[in-house]
Amino acid sequence: MMKPEIQSAMNAQINEELYSAYLYVAMVNYFEEINLKGAAKWMRIQVQEELAHAHKFFEYMVSRNGKLSLKAINGPKSDWKSPLAAWEAAYKHECHITECINKLYGKASDARDPATMQFLDWFVNEQVEEEANTSDIVAQMKMVKDAPGGLFLLDRELAARTAAAGADPAASAAT
Ligand code: FEO
Repeated sequence: MMKPEIQSAMNAQINEELYSAYLYVAMVNYFEEINLKGAAKWMRIQVQEELAHAHKFFEYMVSRNGKLSLKAINGPKSDWKSPLAAWEAAYKHECHITECINKLYGKASDARDPATMQFLDWFVNEQVEEEANTSDIVAQMKMVKDAPGGLFLLDRELAARTAAAGADPAASAAT
């Protein structure tokens, strides 16, 4: 049985992951509006990943007989002043999620809940990747600046992203 403070922190993290999906849906729409189809595709995959993250938390809660307490998801910003500003916002958001996971890990450690710590290991590693992915794109966007040719090529590269195994929340239900 999970301790109440861990239950409550896990519920808050489900909200964070669903908000992440919501934020990236807004970014899909923004990139579509400015015809950056590759960036929009990249973000569509990111939405699936965030839903899969929420799903992993949800299934873990169920497996530990945790009590779900779902809260309203805040509305994200829906417009950015430039593609670079949107990617910077994505990177900043991932840094925030890393902080959330680290705090959650600390709570599980304080509560002497090794099962939850072990469960969170996957997210600790995932956040290293999430920060690296978005920070690399921010760096590339800065190199390109407003040069249309560079932006076109970078967008084509972003279009090559494929969904990682396990990123489909429906598929991960079976695991
Ligand atoms: Fe669920 Fe992008 O962290």
